[in-house]
Amino acid sequence: MRFLITAGPTREPLDPVRYLSNRSSGKMGCALASAALEAGHEVVLVSGPVALEPPPGAQITRVETARQMFEAVRDQISGCEAAIFCAAVADYRPVSVAGQKIKKTGERLVLELERTEDILGSARSIFGFRGFLAGFAAETTNLLEHAHDKLRRKGCDLVIANDVSRAGIGFDSAENEVILCLPGAREIPLPRQTKAGLARAIIAFITETHPPQTPPSPQ
Ligand code: CTP
Repeated sequence: MRFLITAGPTREPLDPVRYLSNRSSGKMGCALASAALEAGHEVVLVSGPVALEPPPGAQITRVETARQMFEAVRDQISGCEAAIFCAAVADYRPVSVAGQKIKKTGERLVLELERTEDILGSARSIFGFRGFLAGFAAETTNLLEHAHDKLRRKGCDLVIANDVSRAGIGFDSAENEVILCLPGAREIPLPRQTKAGLARAIIAFITETHPPQTPPSPQ
C-alpha cells in the first residue's frame, strides 16, 4: 500500500523572526513512516519542521505552515491508499504577518488570529479521498468522547486517541499509550510502549483490517 503520513508541528509566522508553533517533535509521525516502510509499504511523508532525520526510503515533502501542509496533502493524497494525519497542525495563524520585526511598544500586545485549513477535515469533503483515513485526537479532557466525535465529523476510519495531559507520554516523549477508536463505538487500547512499537501495531492494524484492493484475477 501507499501511505500518506503527516508529521511534526507547523509554524505560523508573525514576523520575519517569530512564529506560533507547538511542542510536537515529529517522533510519532516518523515512527509511523518507518513502520510502514519496514512492512513493505510506500510512504509519502509530509512533515513540518522537525529535528529528526526522515526514514530512508520515504518520499518527503517538507513544509512550514498549515497552508503549505494543506497544499502538499491536497497534491499527493489521491495516489495513496491510506492516510494517517499525525501532524500537530496549528489551528490558528496570525491574520497578518509583519514585513519587519515587530518592535516592542506598549505593555501589552494583542494578536489577531484566524483559523487555518482543517487538513484532516478536508480529506473526504474537499480532496475526495476514498482510502483508509486515520487521524489523531490529542486531548486533555473527555478523550474518548472527543475522539469518537472526531471520527464521525471528519469521516475517519480510525482515530488514535492520545491523552496528552499525562506526563511521560504523547508530545515530545519517547513513549506513548493510545486507544484506537473505530466506527460503531469500538475501542482497542494499545498499552504504553515506545512510539516505534505503537507505530508497528497501528500499521499492522490498518494493513490487516484494510488489505489493499487487488484487481480480480483473470479467469
Ligand atoms: N489536523 C489537521 N489540520 C488541522 C488541525 C488538525 O489535519 N488544521 C489533524 C491532526 O493531524 C490530527 C487531527 O486533525 O490528526 C486532530 O487534531 P485536533 O486539532 O485535535 O482536531 P480538531 O477536530 O480540530 O479538534 P478540536 O475541534 O477539538 O479543536
